[in-house]
Amino acid sequence: MLRGKHILLGITGSIAAYKAAMLCRLLKTAGAEVKVVMTPTAKEFITPLTMATLSKNPIAVEFYNPENGDWHSHISMGEWADCFVIAPATANTIAKMAHGIADNLLLTTYLSARCRTIVAPAMDCDMFAHVTTQQNIATLKEHGVVIVDSPAGELASGLLGKGRMAEPEQIVGIIEHVVSEKKKRDLDGRRLIVTAGATIEAIDPVRFISNHSTGKMGYAIAEALAQRGAKVTLVSGRTALAAPTDVERIDVVSAEDMYRAVVERFDDVDGAIMCAAVADYTPKEVSALKIKKGDDDLRIELRRTKDIAAELGRTKGNRLLAGFALESHDGEAHARRKLHDKNFDFIVLNSLQDEGAGFGVDTNKVTFIDADGKESLPLMTKREVADRIADRVEKFFAKR
Ligand code: CTP
Repeated sequence: MLRGKHILLGITGSIAAYKAAMLCRLLKTAGAEVKVVMTPTAKEFITPLTMATLSKNPIAVEFYNPENGDWHSHISMGEWADCFVIAPATANTIAKMAHGIADNLLLTTYLSARCRTIVAPAMDCDMFAHVTTQQNIATLKEHGVVIVDSPAGELASGLLGKGRMAEPEQIVGIIEHVVSEKKKRDLDGRRLIVTAGATIEAIDPVRFISNHSTGKMGYAIAEALAQRGAKVTLVSGRTALAAPTDVERIDVVSAEDMYRAVVERFDDVDGAIMCAAVADYTPKEVSALKIKKGDDDLRIELRRTKDIAAELGRTKGNRLLAGFALESHDGEAHARRKLHDKNFDFIVLNSLQDEGAGFGVDTNKVTFIDADGKESLPLMTKREVADRIADRVEKFFAKR
């Protein structure tokens, strides 16, 4: 399974670095080509000579060779690899990976690699259990990194607990699984709009009405659809997020802006997923000047905004239209009404009462509702929910 595969092995400064030698040998025996990138500290634990001999390739540690200026390109190593395995991965490297810090060759390679990355943590049990490390591991998982579970056992410090690096044989099994995974391209050629984030309705040049949406769910959907081959236009209200790779992002401010941006593009696409938190009301008049405070109460008259989803529902024909319902009570009944009123093909219901669901968090607990019934999913990351939505989108087109 690994014959001819390009495996980039990253080694960081942990006592478990000795196991990387065995891992390299197993990979070579399985017929893989192995290149090794080490952090400067990793050299204290295992020598480049050992790893170069086992991998039959020179080892990359620094950005360039000071003797002759020979440049080690992190980009070409990332492009070469079918899989990047960081084993052992220290708490320090995991933290830097989670936050995009790129102060050594291994980290720059991680940031530029397009292949899947596997991380086998190795550290003391207290470091492993620390909330920061656990958060960083969760972040990496959310970024699509495969984390090799750390078994409990005796650690180099003499302590007992979780934090040991998994055994090389187990890591090889995971590498085999990852490199044999077929990248799903089941939405190739589909054109889709995703709306995301919060709209902003100006009261005056200083104040506005908005909501708590951070855009995380919609951005995860755009990313999932694009990774499966769809051409995605992300019409985005306010968010602090960066656009996912290969997604066209159109920034809008108000509900009216979003309405125009979506409606004018809808003719050219195969469907839309409406995830934005669109203001239902906007100030009737926007003051050109800052409203000064007086002694009396202030009343701002609001008027209804246009319902973008409902408008698309009227004109969609055989195109896909999916929406969201965020409810605090009687969720299913409200969602069913929205499914019908807006002519959605399916609606994704999330409840404000569910822990781990809703604004700002990285997880969600959703129920799909369509004309055939409902399917409730357990709590999962928003990225995982996005994949399940992409599955539904694919099923819709397969049936059509
Ligand atoms: N939506 C939209 N345009 C609007 C309002 C909502 O496209 N002007 C979309 C949302 O993106 C979401 C769905 O419609 O997919 C939400 O339905 P909606 O009934 O508007 O939800 P709420 O605004 O929360 O309505 P309510 O206050 O009645 O719960």
